[in-house]
Amino acid sequence: MSITVKKYLLNQYATFDSSVNLNYESPDATFKFEQSTLDISNPNLLQDDEIFYETIYLSNDPAQKGWFTAAKDSYLPPTPLGQPAPAHGIAKILKSKNAQFPEGSYFMGKVNWVTHGIVNPAKSMVFPVDPTQVQKLSHFLSVFGSTGMTAYVAAFKYSEVKPEDEGKVWLITGAAGAVGAALVHIVANCFKPKLILAVAGGPDKVEFVESLGPNVKGVDYKSASYDEDFSKALGGDKIDVFVDQVGGEILNKASLHMQTFGKIVQVGAISGYNGGVSSYFTNYAVAVITKRLRIQGFVLVDDLKDMKKIVGHMIELFQTGKLDVSKFSETIVDATGEKFTEIPELWGGLFTGANKGKYITQVAKLE
Ligand SMILES: NC(=O)c1ccc[n+]([C@@H]2O[C@H](COP(=O)([O-])OP(=O)(O)OC[C@H]3O[C@@H](n4cnc5c(N)ncnc54)[C@H](OP(=O)(O)O)[C@@H]3O)[C@@H](O)[C@H]2O)c1
Repeated sequence: MSITVKKYLLNQYATFDSSVNLNYESPDATFKFEQSTLDISNPNLLQDDEIFYETIYLSNDPAQKGWFTAAKDSYLPPTPLGQPAPAHGIAKILKSKNAQFPEGSYFMGKVNWVTHGIVNPAKSMVFPVDPTQVQKLSHFLSVFGSTGMTAYVAAFKYSEVKPEDEGKVWLITGAAGAVGAALVHIVANCFKPKLILAVAGGPDKVEFVESLGPNVKGVDYKSASYDEDFSKALGGDKIDVFVDQVGGEILNKASLHMQTFGKIVQVGAISGYNGGVSSYFTNYAVAVITKRLRIQGFVLVDDLKDMKKIVGHMIELFQTGKLDVSKFSETIVDATGEKFTEIPELWGGLFTGANKGKYITQVAKLE
């Protein structure tokens, strides 16, 4: 029996200071579309320990911009040109020669921009997942995936604020995105903040972030009155903890509103990722030195060793009603069947505000 396999291969590296070329039909496209047939009844389809999978969901992550470059000193080695475009997601195992990954089961991890693939789990970053443990399979990319965990460690570890520390003022940027929305919900419900200033783009997203918990004030960074709105929402207070995902001018301006000895947790700098204004920090001296601020970046890979503990605590927070699974929003877009070719364009929506909460592309229907 033969099936059609569709893939996007990395055709040309993107660079840090320019946008990804999403038009796969142009000669200097970042990705190249490829389609072939595969005989899946071939008894030699798989080597020992390998699995053959069908991609169900793709996780759209700003970090992929970095994975599409040839960065040598990144936390991941560059993907060779001609290989499938790197992406995390969830897949169903259609055939298996690996007892830990049986046929019909699911895994999460590196699936790439392909409809189908073959992988040896021991040589790749993939983990079995059990759909019966979650309300929706996609939750393994949002609540119980790297999104939830990143928000968790930003709040419970890197902020250095304890849940019982009452009355802190938090600033969270990128607040309507995957990590941001999860973080607003966690801080609003598991800590005792005086105020969470949540920065997002547009009135609809401001309303969304304010629905995530008590003491949240949304501020629209796309509004002409952003500066005044920001100061008004802060109401004369200073920011104790600033969890920043955006960088650039939003970080630059907000640093002037920090409390002396305040902390900035640098989760990301999305405003400069895809040909946007690169991160600059002209208020560095007046903010960081004068206010004796501490800035700490982190990358979740350092915390993966604590995954069991983190997920365990999150489950406890859901069971005790502190957190609400339904607040971990997902925006799922359709790239099933013929729409597979739309994957790059859909991914580009990360940089134009396409999502509320976790941004996921569906590649195959769930049966
Ligand atoms: N350090 C780590 O281990 C780690 C792990 C995961 C993610 N991250 C980082 O965390 C950040 C958020 O990731 P995510 O998965 O939550 O992505 P996401 O869902 O795309 O959220 C990012 C949000 O940023 C906003 N945004 C985009 N461009 C912007 C700009 N120029 N200025 C201001 N806001 C902008 C978008 O919403 P609007 O519509 O409001 O603009 C978007 O919802 C990224 O920088 C990512 O690289 C880091």
